[in-house]
Amino acid sequence: MSTGMVVDRGLEGVVVGHTDLSNVEGQVGRLTYRGYDIDDLAPNANFEEIAHLLLYGHLPSAKELEDFKRELASRRELPGPLLTAMQTVPKTAWPMDVLRTIVSGLALFVPVNNHGEHVSDVHSAIELIAKMTTIVAAWDRIRRGLDPIEPRADLSHAANFLYMRTGKVPAPVEEDAIDTYLVLLADHSFNASTFSARVTASTRADIYASVTAALATLTGDLHGGAASATYTNLVAIGSPDKAEKFVHDEIAKGNRIMGMGHREYRVRDPRAKHLEAIAKDLAAHSGTKWYAIARELENQSQRILAEEHPDRKIYANVDFYTAPVLADLGIPGDEFTCLFACGRAAGWTAHILEQLHDNRLIRPQATYSGPPPGPFVPIGKR
Ligand code: COA
Repeated sequence: MSTGMVVDRGLEGVVVGHTDLSNVEGQVGRLTYRGYDIDDLAPNANFEEIAHLLLYGHLPSAKELEDFKRELASRRELPGPLLTAMQTVPKTAWPMDVLRTIVSGLALFVPVNNHGEHVSDVHSAIELIAKMTTIVAAWDRIRRGLDPIEPRADLSHAANFLYMRTGKVPAPVEEDAIDTYLVLLADHSFNASTFSARVTASTRADIYASVTAALATLTGDLHGGAASATYTNLVAIGSPDKAEKFVHDEIAKGNRIMGMGHREYRVRDPRAKHLEAIAKDLAAHSGTKWYAIARELENQSQRILAEEHPDRKIYANVDFYTAPVLADLGIPGDEFTCLFACGRAAGWTAHILEQLHDNRLIRPQATYSGPPPGPFVPIGKR
């Protein structure tokens, strides 16, 4: 039955709102945060400056940055009962499941008003950004049978994360790598997880519920799970000379090449070149093979996918070089999506506050394709 309604499966090309936070220009491959090009931000600004930019609307002055860093550092510790709860989780639990559950659990330790609501403001946003890296690092250690390491207030957000995993202050090249990674992942307009956060916030659910929804949405391998899947591919390939056969085999099996393709970009994802440069530096620092395999996998994938899809340009996306970067930092492949979440927490929380500031319930429609109206069938007659 035709209703005359236009159905846009996947909302491709549908504009569902406006934002001041970031702009994705898919045809030219440009990403800006509040008007600043990530090509300028990635080499020049740290994650704390970007989180401030997104949450407060401007790049911080030196004094504002100090205050912001102090607040972020002061909010890193987790409530003791949550750390205890993490100790009881099966060690086989998937890191994103742990992160989502514990972020949701944070709400239990924050006072509610008479309607059961938590305050959703810039401070609860900073709280969530600060604590997410602590959760990821704590689970990383707990599942290895090690005690969590307390956060250090004197370290940057990036350095403190690596420190909480290993107990060692990272080398500058490692700190810079994770810091730039977090900068590049901080926001990306109305991507699926951000949209999910905004849908949840639009019901006037609070920031904890909204970030939990975003975490759930990020999990899938068509979104934040692609970097882990790319790493699995790099391991399976093993050496650069096997990349070509791998791509042919995957396509013959009907599989997608993870880390390739994007809904918005019709050119190479602008974040990929920065991540590729970091991956190259880290490979030189650590002597691993991940960058070399990834480089050849991208060449082969781009060439073979262009033959398969002459009408559609399929290039590396942000997740592609995330895999060698995070692998070289010693982070296990199944934790990559958690790191994505730690960066995107800045964007999610800024979007949630933006949504709440000028809210309208997000409630789309669907065309109905089930049976026509009919009489109820009593249970004895079914
Ligand atoms: N490997 C192989 N083929 C791919 C592909 C990939 N990575 N990405 C897209 N394609 C193909 C599809 O199979 C499809 O072919 P068809 O028309 O013959 O069915 C065509 O390109 C269009 O794909 P579609 O799924 O409609 O495009 P989309 O806009 O929904 O795709 C992604 C965007 C990200 C979902 C898609 O590129 C993908 O699945 N990539 C791999 C997962 C990934 O890296 N996700 C992270 C995104 S940041």
